[in-house]
Amino acid sequence: IEEFFIEPKLKGKKIIVTAGGTKEAIDPVRYIGNRSSGKMGIAMAQVARDLGADVTLITSVKTELSGVNKIEIQTADELMAALRQEFPQADVLVMAAAVADFKPMTVADQKIKKNPNEDIFTIKLTKNPDILKTIAATKTNQFVVGFAAETQNLLDNAEKKLNSKNADVILANNVAQAGAGFGVDTNKMTLLQKNHTPETWPLMSKVDVAKKFWDFYLQQ
Ligand code: CTP
Ligand code: CA
Repeated sequence: IEEFFIEPKLKGKKIIVTAGGTKEAIDPVRYIGNRSSGKMGIAMAQVARDLGADVTLITSVKTELSGVNKIEIQTADELMAALRQEFPQADVLVMAAAVADFKPMTVADQKIKKNPNEDIFTIKLTKNPDILKTIAATKTNQFVVGFAAETQNLLDNAEKKLNSKNADVILANNVAQAGAGFGVDTNKMTLLQKNHTPETWPLMSKVDVAKKFWDFYLQQ
């Protein structure tokens, strides 16, 4: 029965989910990207939709997901611009996007050609803004969820992000661990919340992680 009738517990909530890795242009044909598949964010959006929320999915990856308002972005700057528009009206922001920490300082307007005399090619990068930190600093009463992708010292690193990013919770995962990294359909998450002991969930599908997260949110 519960597969066919889900109580719309998030009805009336405006929820923004960001998903996928940003693509920072080098020239018209190349970009700097990362291994994020967008699956965790898309699962968050899908489950929120199923619970009756008004979902805006800001994504760098194409998805068939229906019943949500989709905004396609490529770069961190575009993601920031979209969030500046959407965040003030939102109830919840789930920041699952893997934002590039750096982007090329300049974007060539023509395809860069190889120099036959140079075996080394250097691209100068400049820091992207911390979108989560910047946007969450403007919050009125939005609930803000950040992620932490780590390959070591998961709890220490995630705790620092919880304290520095103005997020209400951080969902942390070890992306180097089998079954919890990029591209797969499963994840193993640790939820961190101020003044609470971190809670580590078992390995489960990303859709089940999303269900567990929205259950948690509904208890706040
Ligand atoms: N994030 C962001 N803007 C950035 C970098 C990250 O909004 N320029 C967000 C991500 O969407 C995620 C959270 O910050 O929700 C943590 O991202 P992560 O890459 O794990 O942490 P960083 O703060 O970038 O630190 P580092 O990569 O050095 O671990
Ligand atoms: Ca980062």
